[in-house]
Amino acid sequence: MTALLEIEGLTVRFGGRAVVDDVSLRLDAGERLGLIGASGSGKSLTALAAIGLLPDGATVSGSVRLAGSELAGGSDRELARVRGSRIGMVFQEPATALDPLMRVGAQIAGPVRRLTGASRSAAARRAVELAATVGLPDPEVLVRAYPHQLSGGQRQRVGIAIALAGEPDLLIADEPTTALDVTVQAEVLGLLDDLVRRRGTALLFISHDLAVVAQIARRVAVLADGRVREYGPVEQVLHQPRDPVTQALVAAARRTSWQAPAPVGTVGQGS
Ligand SMILES: Nc1ncnc2c1ncn2[C@@H]1O[C@H](COP(=O)(O)OP(=O)(O)OP(=O)(O)O)[C@@H](O)[C@H]1O
Ligand SMILES: [Mg+2]
Repeated sequence: MTALLEIEGLTVRFGGRAVVDDVSLRLDAGERLGLIGASGSGKSLTALAAIGLLPDGATVSGSVRLAGSELAGGSDRELARVRGSRIGMVFQEPATALDPLMRVGAQIAGPVRRLTGASRSAAARRAVELAATVGLPDPEVLVRAYPHQLSGGQRQRVGIAIALAGEPDLLIADEPTTALDVTVQAEVLGLLDDLVRRRGTALLFISHDLAVVAQIARRVAVLADGRVREYGPVEQVLHQPRDPVTQALVAAARRTSWQAPAPVGTVGQGS
């Protein structure tokens, strides 16, 4: 079967330094993969390389295929079409990902129009639907609000609605709950879990938090210094870590608040 996303030998360099080093990952349709590693290990750059949004000064080699089509080396125009329509991205800081001067409804409707060709009024209606889909209260009213009038959790729900605007096959979430407090974090995680399951969307979930990744992903790749150190089913990687880097991550998580993670698919239920 053709993978939905297949990354092979991806290397990203700044100057001579490889910050993503020969990374290979595979994600099938509807599958969930966690990408975990310490700060600076190359998680975000791996995701940004996959959607062709690397910062200036980065040179990239290797291959990124989406449903069999090569994206690496694609023109900006081709990549812009893929972004959003095939791949939706949720960023870490909902506050900075949104335009403070624009009503949230317009920020959802914009990509809906651009990616689906909907009319202005149809896109506005779709924005209200998407606001409801991501569990925003009173969506008809809320779409008229500005980002600063929302809570952090609500802003991240708007970020998720924007990522869903083009009905992507793959959602990449880069530390989507890190900026939120613990209760809200669990709610947003439950929402993501529910959304990808119901829509059959594949999920690449990036976090430095093992407990969080274990709740939402079935397979996990551990990155250190830009390299994949361990790659396999969550249970195996977390409960029988082979690589010293993974062992250290597990030990660190156990020292803080980590309990044995709930099995995949139980997030957000019963709360
Ligand atoms: N624009 C840039 N110029 C030079 N080096 C960069 C640039 N962006 C990132 N890097 C370097 O690349 C490495 C990987 O960065 P990346 O943002 O992918 O890490 P990360 O795993 O996402 O970390 P975090 O958990 O802090 O988000 C880091 O060492 C970083 O310093
Ligand atoms: Mg990052």
